[in-house]
Amino acid sequence: MIYTDPFGPEALASITAREQRTVIGHASIDLMSPMSGQTLDELVATIPTGARMLDMGCGKAALARHLLKKDPVASAVCIERNPVLAAQGEALARKNGVADRLQMIVADGREWKASETFDAIALLGATHAIGSLQEVLAYGATHLKAGGVVLLGEGVWAERPHADYLAFLGAEEDELMSREALAETVRKAGFRIRYEHLSSVAEWEAYETPYFQQLRNYADACGQHPFAEEASAFEAMQIKHGRKCMGFMVMAVAKSP
Ligand SMILES: C[S@@+](CC[C@H](N)C(=O)[O-])C[C@H]1O[C@@H](n2cnc3c(N)ncnc32)[C@H](O)[C@@H]1O
Repeated sequence: MIYTDPFGPEALASITAREQRTVIGHASIDLMSPMSGQTLDELVATIPTGARMLDMGCGKAALARHLLKKDPVASAVCIERNPVLAAQGEALARKNGVADRLQMIVADGREWKASETFDAIALLGATHAIGSLQEVLAYGATHLKAGGVVLLGEGVWAERPHADYLAFLGAEEDELMSREALAETVRKAGFRIRYEHLSSVAEWEAYETPYFQQLRNYADACGQHPFAEEASAFEAMQIKHGRKCMGFMVMAVAKSP
């Protein structure tokens, strides 16, 4: 779909309610993961110069755009299922002057077939765009060029979650790994860890506070909308429990020699 304005109400009306929540919540957020500018810089520094990158579940392609602005020879293929986020990413790539090196494809990452190999394969907060973590690592093993890196942004339990938190999320404890179990899974799949960072409470706050606020602002502008109550309940739960136990592990991993 071609949008005259990917940030306008027509674009929003063309997608599902769930996709709308993602787009509205992230209206003022470029990188849709709890990562500071410094963490992003450190992660991007692990990518070989002149890289061909695959950014899977790319959101607005913030990671790919950051790489292309830093490295004038790098190029990226970006896969995103949400057409409004993809269109916003393309518009931002034009604004950043990197659109000629960024190919945006609206597709389900589980169905899209790569016809080349890459120097970097990123799945930040988007493991499910390929499948399980094991499937992501297997994908990396077959689609990485020699010397390449897989960039992961994976939810982990930094501490054992409280039963109230699991009940609120409707989640089971075994849906996320511990930081140690994640590292062990990566090594067992034949990768070594070149960079790792557990997002700090400050990174979570800097990411989530505007996210919840955007949803409330939107609800206010509508007069009445369930987003307001949902956002406030979720934010309260994050402050009470989530910030202690919900971790986001950022990693660059390379195939073991
Ligand atoms: C948490 S967001 C992270 C976006 C981006 N990686 C970033 O850090 O800015 C996860 C993204 O993955 C996308 N996604 C989820 N499942 C997908 C799939 N099967 N194929 C392609 N994209 C998918 C979502 O639409 C969403 O934009």
